[in-house]
Amino acid sequence: MSETLHLPENATRQEIYAGILPQIEAVMVDDLIANLANIAAILKQAFDFHWVGFYRTAEPGLLMLGPFQGPLACVSIPFDKGVCGAAARNRKTVIVDDVDAFPGHIACSSLSKSEIVVPLVSRGETRLVLDIDSDKPGDFDAVDQQWCERIVALLEARHFTH
Ligand code: SME
Repeated sequence: MSETLHLPENATRQEIYAGILPQIEAVMVDDLIANLANIAAILKQAFDFHWVGFYRTAEPGLLMLGPFQGPLACVSIPFDKGVCGAAARNRKTVIVDDVDAFPGHIACSSLSKSEIVVPLVSRGETRLVLDIDSDKPGDFDAVDQQWCERIVALLEARHFTH
């Protein structure tokens, strides 16, 4: 198993996602935390996003910080707070172009300008969310949504189908 990430040069974001997806699959193991840690590292290294990480549902209605890359983060987020809470509560991906304009946004870092949060839903419940913050406004679109949902689907297939 290679532990070096190979990234295409002068590539579009779409091409970078296409390049890292098989590498994510290649490093996945049976341990959820190990997989979350490496996925956060791969996304951070590939795109140099401000913050990339996971929150897991620790008890009904409460997200708890998981593996991440980036600055210190909020530890717990109720489902009724923030962008992460909205994605977890509604069981749908949320893209926010301007986090300052999002009601209830939790500003863990004043450098965060835009955000995408993708929930992993299994048997009707949000089990975890992938949260990516950018220091650029409007940094996420349908391409990020499509590929991040594919990454989360890999985790769902591996860890939440039994
Ligand atoms: N901004 C998020 C909180 C999590 S951090 O950004 C890491 C939110 O409003 O859900």
